[in-house]
Amino acid sequence: MLNLVVLTGAGVSAESGIPTFRGKEGLWKNFKPEELATPEAFRRNPKLVWEWYDWRRQIISKAEPNKAHKLLAQLNAVIITQNVDGLHQRAGAKKVIELHGNIWRVRCTNCGKEYENYEVPLREIPPKCKFCNGLLRPAVVWFGECLPLDALEEAERLAKSCEVFLVVGTSGVVYPAGLLPFVAKQHGAKVVEINPESTPISEIADIVIREKASVGVEKFIRTMLNL
Ligand code: APR
Repeated sequence: MLNLVVLTGAGVSAESGIPTFRGKEGLWKNFKPEELATPEAFRRNPKLVWEWYDWRRQIISKAEPNKAHKLLAQLNAVIITQNVDGLHQRAGAKKVIELHGNIWRVRCTNCGKEYENYEVPLREIPPKCKFCNGLLRPAVVWFGECLPLDALEEAERLAKSCEVFLVVGTSGVVYPAGLLPFVAKQHGAKVVEINPESTPISEIADIVIREKASVGVEKFIRTMLNL
């Protein structure tokens, strides 16, 4: 069996109606990351940050996994994702490594407890901890914060040991996630990129499939896995 590992970004969820970050209608075109996705921004104005996450949770709660999510879930491969939307898991993927956390989890800034919260819309903004009534924050990774170490180490280990590293729907400009295709390449893997646009990863990719995820993943499965 082919030792395949997959890395995904916002592009894989674009066809589910979830905006990407840096595309034409991308979130960072309309919002300032420094005001919404940094620990400093949260300290300054937790209400503003939570209003934005509540808005994103409402969009994601209405979204369904698309064909790309479903096809990737059928591949017996580990999916390393930068996405916080949980759509890979909802599509049935069993082995998902979340590098940037999950929008359906919250963490208390007082007692540190982390738990799932699917309230849409949030009854109270900012929401409070169900254990200690402390201020909750989204359990996602903000700019300037470290990734969960166990997830990052596992992702690097998999990138170093795979035969094929499939990259779907990421601009590859956010690190350390954007380094993983280069790590895989350095350790002898074939790098395959699926993205309608070129990215820094295109430079090192052995195969580039210039398609949207739903079309590109199907093409990959048919041509490369002959499935
Ligand atoms: N199918 C495949 N790829 C697509 C599609 C699609 N339907 N639509 C857009 N794309 C591609 C774009 O061409 C772009 O290269 O998806 C990529 C999305 O890039 P970004 O918006 O930069 O998202 P991502 O790479 O996931 O961002 C990384 O940045 O803002 C932070 O934490 C956030 O996890 C995120 C990280």
